[in-house]
Amino acid sequence: MINNQEELRQTANQLSAKGKGLLAVDESTPTIGKRLAGINVENTEENRQAYRGMLFTSEGLGQFISGAILFEETLYQNHADGETMVSKINKLGIIPGIKVDKGLSPLAGAHEVETWCKGLEGLAERTAEYYKQGARFAKWRAVLQITADGCPTDLAIRENAWGLARYAKICQESGLVPIIEPEILMDGDHTIETTAEVQEKVLVEVYKACSENKVFLEGTLLKPSMTVSGADNKNKAGSEEVAKMTVRTMNRCVPASVPGIMFLSGGLTEEDASVYLNTMNSIEHKSSTSLTFSYGRALQQSCLQAWSGTNIEAGQKALMARCQANSEASTGDYVAGSQPSSQETLFEAGYKY
Ligand code: 13P
Repeated sequence: MINNQEELRQTANQLSAKGKGLLAVDESTPTIGKRLAGINVENTEENRQAYRGMLFTSEGLGQFISGAILFEETLYQNHADGETMVSKINKLGIIPGIKVDKGLSPLAGAHEVETWCKGLEGLAERTAEYYKQGARFAKWRAVLQITADGCPTDLAIRENAWGLARYAKICQESGLVPIIEPEILMDGDHTIETTAEVQEKVLVEVYKACSENKVFLEGTLLKPSMTVSGADNKNKAGSEEVAKMTVRTMNRCVPASVPGIMFLSGGLTEEDASVYLNTMNSIEHKSSTSLTFSYGRALQQSCLQAWSGTNIEAGQKALMARCQANSEASTGDYVAGSQPSSQETLFEAGYKY
């Protein structure tokens, strides 16, 4: 029995507060390197500090964003002006969080595309330190892939669900709210019905493992992918269908005690990520669990380009525009095209490592 349930419940409720979502800026050093290369900026610690420092000094960001997921470097980093990034984030009224997984490895005994998520060893010690450093929630990204020859296998589903539940329990014992993220990649040409079928199976297994590990669900958040067609499907479902199927999947599988479902963008364009979320929030959802966002690429693409290494004001303006749009989408009030956005594809095949 953990004695900090009230704190966990409060943090989870704050993170899923109405009209707010999460800013996922926890790209590993190689991944942020790819993003910076896209704007011809070198992947140095100084440039990462400048970019993230720009994000965390965006005035008013806390109106739309409840929590920011950080990579370990940022949790221990100062802004160029000497103040800690954690202090900058807290001043905006945003809760700092931390990615605690150690990335993916091939899953022996399964299909060659399948993976398991590393990081359980020593996790209790690390989460205790992260809490002292100011983090109040955590993220662990498990990845599953749909293939024509039988993936995800039962072995991959079971292993990844179990890892998520073990991680969640360990985080809670340190006072961190775990974000449970079983991402289903968009890779493939499968239909939306196939995604729904797979996602139901995965979520059922995840919550079974949570129950077996005595995870306190009121102090967790779910970060799923939306229920979409495969990226190579020739007849992709549109926003109405995506919203309907996603809400159906969540209604069927996510316990009502979970306070927030914070979707990842997973390679959707900025505009689609907002429109799909908005459409979901315009139809009936049977529980009071909020349906909101925890986007990485879909909040940062225009911002990165506007910033381009030096232009702080333009970067912040672009960030605020996407954050406002998704805040509105989380209450069903977004008017498509009302904020500048990009329809550039953000999909990367095999986005795993
Ligand atoms: P995307 O929104 O770019 O998919 O990133 C969210 C995230 O944090 C994935 O773990």
